[in-house]
Amino acid sequence: MKIGILTSGGDCPGLNAVIRGAVIKGDKLFEDEFIGFKDGWRGVIDDDWMTLPRRRVRGIGRIGGTILGTSRSNPFAEGEDGAAIVRRHMDENDMDAIIAIGGDGTLFTANRLYEAGVPVVGVPKTVDNDLDATDYTFGFNTAVEIATEALDRLRMTGDSHHRCMVAEVMGRSVGWIALHSGMAAGAHVICLPEFPLTIGEICQYVKSAFDRGRAPLVVVAEGFVPSDAPEGFMDYDLDEFGRPRFGGVAQVLAPLIEERLGIESRATVLGHIQRGGEPTGYDRVLATRLGTAAVDLVHQNRFGHMVALRGTEIVDVPLTEAIDSVKRVPEPRWREAEVLFG
Ligand code: F6P
Repeated sequence: MKIGILTSGGDCPGLNAVIRGAVIKGDKLFEDEFIGFKDGWRGVIDDDWMTLPRRRVRGIGRIGGTILGTSRSNPFAEGEDGAAIVRRHMDENDMDAIIAIGGDGTLFTANRLYEAGVPVVGVPKTVDNDLDATDYTFGFNTAVEIATEALDRLRMTGDSHHRCMVAEVMGRSVGWIALHSGMAAGAHVICLPEFPLTIGEICQYVKSAFDRGRAPLVVVAEGFVPSDAPEGFMDYDLDEFGRPRFGGVAQVLAPLIEERLGIESRATVLGHIQRGGEPTGYDRVLATRLGTAAVDLVHQNRFGHMVALRGTEIVDVPLTEAIDSVKRVPEPRWREAEVLFG
């Protein structure tokens, strides 16, 4: 078979491991031929691709980013018949199937194409870990490791200056990275979008830690808004899919804490550092397994499905399951973290 692969949406450590896993398995077991579309759906729309022989994926499993490039292009952008363009370019290149590696936006597009008759399978990807149909997404573990290391460093400088350090981590509208990195670093309060605290509650935790002689560490998920936030507390631009482009809530919270408590406070936004660099061993293994399993899906004609992790097993689920709902931090996970605050 001739299979096209693309990586789309925000990049994520482990993308190259998926590509490598798919190419090696397809080459060894099925004599598949692979091409890689450049910059996600943009490459499909513009018919811009590179060949992916086995030697091209040598050693890439441990490298971050994506050798194919990525973008947030959408073949269904205003008024275009995305499916017709994709089908035309697949026919011109004698392609049998597409493996689309991406987050909710990419998988939504993949499902739309599938419904229009395009043979496509998905591989879920996001540092945010917000896809409901899979227990964990690759990239999340790496992001948590990077964030945890950064939080440890912030605690150290905070300790020296007796300051309150407010660190903002990624996650879009969910708090998984904040919850895991905050817990790992022993944060004094973790602010999640799912369980919004008031500014007063955050200050109480900060004060209690400070009064015990600690330099308070506040971890805030980028999508957090205090429950008593005044109108227009944060005003975000929208991305190509109409979702808020987050960033900056720590810079608003830190001065508020300083003003209310008189404790010198500093804000750090970890931002894209969480997505760069080499994937952890865990993410390399998960990504490789998903890549090899995606090739099986193609050969089993399981189009409109994606590979997913359930427990320790790789399974396949309809793409619709991935895009129907967001995986939020559940209440028991919040309660077990909250008891440690202050
Ligand atoms: O979805 C992954 C993510 O890193 C989010 O955590 C973050 O809000 C967003 O992407 C940033 O997007 P961009 O790379 O387009 O700035």
